[in-house]
Amino acid sequence: MRTPHAALLLLFILSCSRGAYSGGGRNRFTSIISFGDSYADTGNLVRWADPVLPGPNPLNNLPYGEFFGYPTGRATDGRVVLDFIAQALGLPFVPPYLAKGSNFSAGVNFAVAGAPALNLTYLQGQNLTVDPPINRSLHDQLDWFQKLKPSLCKGRRCRHAGKGADCFGSSLFVMGEFGANDYNFLISSNRTVEQARVYAPQIVDSISRGVEILIQHGAKYIVVADIFPIGCLPAILTMLASPNKKEYDGHGCLKSMNKLGRYQNSLLRRRIKVLRYKYPHTKIIATEYFRPVLAFIQKPSHFGLNSSTTLLTCCGAGGPPYNTDFNAGCGQPDATACADPSEALQWDSFHLTESAYRFIADGWLHGPYADPLIMDVARY
Ligand SMILES: *[C@@H]1O[C@H](CO)[C@@H](O)[C@H](O)[C@H]1NC(C)=O
Ligand SMILES: *[C@@H]1O[C@H](CO)[C@@H](O)[C@H](O)[C@H]1NC(C)=O
Ligand SMILES: *[C@@H]1O[C@H](CO)[C@@H](O)[C@H](O)[C@H]1NC(C)=O
Ligand SMILES: *[C@@H]1O[C@H](CO)[C@@H](O)[C@H](O)[C@H]1NC(C)=O
Ligand SMILES: *[C@@H]1O[C@H](CO)[C@@H](O)[C@H](O)[C@H]1NC(C)=O
Ligand SMILES: *[C@@H]1O[C@H](CO)[C@@H](O)[C@H](O)[C@H]1NC(C)=O
Repeated sequence: MRTPHAALLLLFILSCSRGAYSGGGRNRFTSIISFGDSYADTGNLVRWADPVLPGPNPLNNLPYGEFFGYPTGRATDGRVVLDFIAQALGLPFVPPYLAKGSNFSAGVNFAVAGAPALNLTYLQGQNLTVDPPINRSLHDQLDWFQKLKPSLCKGRRCRHAGKGADCFGSSLFVMGEFGANDYNFLISSNRTVEQARVYAPQIVDSISRGVEILIQHGAKYIVVADIFPIGCLPAILTMLASPNKKEYDGHGCLKSMNKLGRYQNSLLRRRIKVLRYKYPHTKIIATEYFRPVLAFIQKPSHFGLNSSTTLLTCCGAGGPPYNTDFNAGCGQPDATACADPSEALQWDSFHLTESAYRFIADGWLHGPYADPLIMDVARY
């Protein structure tokens, strides 16, 4: 340290790297930028100011957010996968984009509950009922990102000299999951599972185009999540209830919907290979919801989950088999939560509990549900 200039330079470099995280060694990530739906929303939908939204949002009511002690806009009893990743990387919870005035220097979350991969104009053109009809799709979220980019990159030149395109060299991007809402809109508009299947290639195209846009804006590390087994969701099980036992697998999930999920995931995996080949300087981390959620259903006790409630909504109404009543959903007066959400898998018929999200995040960070593991990429 011979000159004051060198000392200043060192200080500058240190201020660009964040130390405290639970992985040991040094962590390359200084921010998280997220796109997705209710599996990742940390408070955007509840801040949506639009007259098309019907009445008060149940996400604004307890028992949503029990972990925090108050509702946060997350569609679960506590933290989502993204929160556990932020904590493991020593970063703050990722603030929702619509929380104006937030400090986005360590990350921003564009995910909105209910967001599809395909845009509103397109879905409505397919004669689908999209409720509420708002522009929150993957590509709307990318538009917000592009608008916010100049302020995200202002004064951010760590590790890379000057150029704006390099300002995301130490950001972890998280894309998805996407697709579950597109299928939900299709099924609620009375399309068959076969008709829904036709949209899977377009959904994967949309996700893939989104990843390419991020890369063009300088993203170097991108998590791309697969879709969970939609045929095990109490809401879907209720909507598509059938007297034909052959439609269910040995754990009570709907085979056709899980097959649709597997189909999207196989298309997505193939696409990720193509993207890795096309962009060798970008690290694409493929992460999974599908296998861990199936594992919870197949071996609940292994994860400390109650084996008699794997398809039974914790926060709902109506009782078995699914405790799902669309007129008395979680956060509405007639719904109640189970005594111990930490032993439950299904939170509110559409979403999982914090317990489940914690196990999934663990699998993304430390394995086996990520390729490569987020913690291995974070270390340098
Ligand atoms: C924003 O957060 C960063 C770290 O997360 C901090 O260094 C900075 O001072 C904060 N800015 C403001 C205006 O609070
Ligand atoms: C919506 O998606 C369709 C089909 O992918 C695309 O052609 C169109 O440009 C998109 N519209 C908007 C406004 O993004
Ligand atoms: C939507 O409905 C209109 C009116 O019934 C029909 O003309 C059109 O072909 C339908 N479009 C699609 C994509 O199904
Ligand atoms: C959604 O975006 C489309 C295309 O930009 C626009 O035409 C439409 O009015 C928007 N709808 C809403 C509800 O904002
Ligand atoms: C779907 O079908 C049900 C039962 O036939 C009907 O009540 C409902 O209005 C239909 N929904 C749509 C969006 O077409
Ligand atoms: C599992 O859930 C069932 C139904 O809610 C309950 O009766 C039972 O006591 C729970 N088992 C354990 C071990 O908590």
